[in-house]
Amino acid sequence: MVKISPSVMTADFCYLGDTVKELKECGADFIHCDVMDGVFVPNISFGLPMVKSMNNAVDTPLDVHLMIDDPSAYVEEFAKCGADIITVHCESKGALHLQRLISKIKDLGVKAGVALNPATSPEVLEYVYEYLDMVLVMSVNPGFGGQSFIPNSLRKIEHIANRISTLGLNVDIEVDGGVKPSNSKSIVDAGATILVAGSAVCDAPDKREAIRLLRGI
Ligand code: DX5
Ligand code: ZN
Repeated sequence: MVKISPSVMTADFCYLGDTVKELKECGADFIHCDVMDGVFVPNISFGLPMVKSMNNAVDTPLDVHLMIDDPSAYVEEFAKCGADIITVHCESKGALHLQRLISKIKDLGVKAGVALNPATSPEVLEYVYEYLDMVLVMSVNPGFGGQSFIPNSLRKIEHIANRISTLGLNVDIEVDGGVKPSNSKSIVDAGATILVAGSAVCDAPDKREAIRLLRGI
């Protein structure tokens, strides 16, 4: 069954501890932490101390999405704060030596993901698939919650799913941005194994029901 990684990006941070506990109770497989530095993306969210606090609040694995310009300078600190998966953007300055950065994350005992912006071709993954635990397909331009899913993301997900299967690898495909109960089936059919959902879960009156609907139950 597809895994659900709710993003706390649109939550009220004054009550973050309660929110992550509620998400756990409601069946979240991961907690998606959107870290933004105001340089790689035009928004600032939160950083290391918040990730550490969430790690202290719940035992649900933390799926840390770094939308920052120099991820290589911070992966060690995020690992120390309790990240279970660290995803870096291949477009970021600090990911110039992408294979080295992936190895650095894995040497920290953390799962490694690479994220692709909507305009980035999946060809960039060709020589790193074998080192990866996860590919994150951005289906909106990163920076904000509540945007609309970009339809051609489905074609990119299919392409990546085919490459992973042809190579005989076990790599998750996470899809992030504009994921709703109304489009989750088509995203999973295209090959997604993990769905990020910010507004679809955190703004829903019933988070458990929202997670069930995203799974197609
Ligand atoms: C966007 C973030 C997403 C976002 C998802 O830059 O990476 O994780 O918060 O929010 P929704 O699901 O509302 O598009
Ligand atoms: Zn994200």
